[in-house]
Amino acid sequence: MLQKDTNVFVTGATGLIGGELVRTLLTQPVGKVWALVRPTTDGHPELRLAQRLKRSASGEPHADAALSAVTGDVSAKRLGLSDADYDSVRREADIIIHSAAETSFIRAAACRRTNIAGAKHLIEFTRECTRNPLLVCLSTAFVSGVVANECLTEEDGRRPRSEHHNEYTHSKAVAEELVRSSGLPVLVVRPSVVLSAGVPDAAFARAILQFVPLLNELDAVPINPAGRPDAVPVQFVVNSIIRLLQLPHLQYDCYHISAGDQGTATFGQLSPILDRFYGRPVPLRLIPLAQWTRDVHRNYIRTPEQRRIFASLRNYLPFLNMNVLYDNSRLRAELGDRFPECPPLTSYLEELLSLISHDRGVTRWLRAKGA
Ligand SMILES: NC(=O)c1ccc[n+]([C@@H]2O[C@H](COP(=O)([O-])OP(=O)(O)OC[C@H]3O[C@@H](n4cnc5c(N)ncnc54)[C@H](OP(=O)(O)O)[C@@H]3O)[C@@H](O)[C@H]2O)c1
Repeated sequence: MLQKDTNVFVTGATGLIGGELVRTLLTQPVGKVWALVRPTTDGHPELRLAQRLKRSASGEPHADAALSAVTGDVSAKRLGLSDADYDSVRREADIIIHSAAETSFIRAAACRRTNIAGAKHLIEFTRECTRNPLLVCLSTAFVSGVVANECLTEEDGRRPRSEHHNEYTHSKAVAEELVRSSGLPVLVVRPSVVLSAGVPDAAFARAILQFVPLLNELDAVPINPAGRPDAVPVQFVVNSIIRLLQLPHLQYDCYHISAGDQGTATFGQLSPILDRFYGRPVPLRLIPLAQWTRDVHRNYIRTPEQRRIFASLRNYLPFLNMNVLYDNSRLRAELGDRFPECPPLTSYLEELLSLISHDRGVTRWLRAKGA
C-alpha cells in the first residue's frame, strides 16, 4: 500500500505515462522514488529526467529530495543498473512500477527485446528484492489481440496465442502472462488508448495522433462512423494507478483503466471536430469498412499522393476499426467515490490537434519524398 514511507521504483519515467506518474507521485505521501532512465552519452540521468518533467503542464517540479534518477535499461540483465543502484533499490523498494516499453507498432524485434525480455528481467529483479515488493505492470487493454465490436472485461483479455495486429500488442500479452504467472505479488493495469491531454508537448500528442493530419488529406476513409474508440487522458490513468495503490487491499490483480461504454463518442461524433479544426470545406466522409469496396477505393484514392497517404495509414486502420470498448466496472467498484475524473475525448481532442497542427508538414514531406 502506498503511504508516506513507501519506496517506489519506476521504469519508463521519461515516457508519457511514467513521467506523469513520477510527477504525481511526488505530490502524494511517499518515501523514496527512483526513476530508471536510459543511459545518455553525457551520463547524466538526472538531466534527462528533469527535461522530461519540464514537458508536463506544471513544468519542472521543485528539487525533490525523495526523487533520484538511476541509469538502466530493462532489456539488459540486472536492468543495466550499477552495482550500487541495484543494491539500494533491491534492498529498499516496496513497490515497483514497470512502465518502460517499446511502443512502436513496427519495431518488432525491439518490442520483443524490451517488452518480453524486459518483463523477465523485472521479474528476476523483483525476486531478488528484500521487502517482497508489489510489481505493478503497465500492460495494455489491447492484449486481447484481434477482436471487434465487443465490450471486453478483464477476463476476456490476455490472449498471447490469438492473432495480433502487430508485435507490440503481442509482446505486451506475452509479458503480461509472464508477470501474472510469476507467483509474485503483482498488479496489472491495462489502459486503453492514453492521450496526453493537459501535457503541452507536441511529441507526446503526436505519438498517438500522428495519423489525424493524414486523414485530413483525404476525402473519405474506411472508418465506421458508428465505431467507438476507447481513449482516456493520461492524468486519469495516473490517478487511477495511484488510488489503487493507496487502497489497503485489492480484490483483483488486473484492472482496465479505460473509458468503457459510458459516454464514449463515436467516430461520427468526433469527425466534425476534425472538420471544424482543419476548416474543411467538405466534411471528411467516413465509410464503414464493409462498404469500402475496390470501386469505392478507386473513387476516393485517385492520385499518387492520396495512395501514399492511404498506405501510411495501414498500421492505424485495424485499430480504428476495432470498435472495442474495455469495461471499467471493476475499477469503478474498487475506487468507489475515489474513481478519478475522466473527461471525454470530445473535450480535449482540439487541444491536442492544436499541438500537432504544424504536422501538415508530414503530408508535405510525404509528397516531397514520394514515400
Ligand atoms: N500510451 C498509450 O496509449 C498506452 C496505452 C496502453 C498501455 N500503455 C503502456 O503504458 C506504458 C507507458 O507507455 P507510454 O505511453 O508512457 O510510452 P512512451 O511514452 O513511449 O514511453 C516509453 C518509456 O519506456 C522507456 N524505455 C523504452 N525502452 C526501454 C528500455 N530498454 N529500458 C528502459 N526504458 C525503456 C522509454 O525511455 P526513452 O525515453 O529512453 O525512450 C520511455 O521512458 C507502456 O508499458 C505501454 O505499453 C500505453
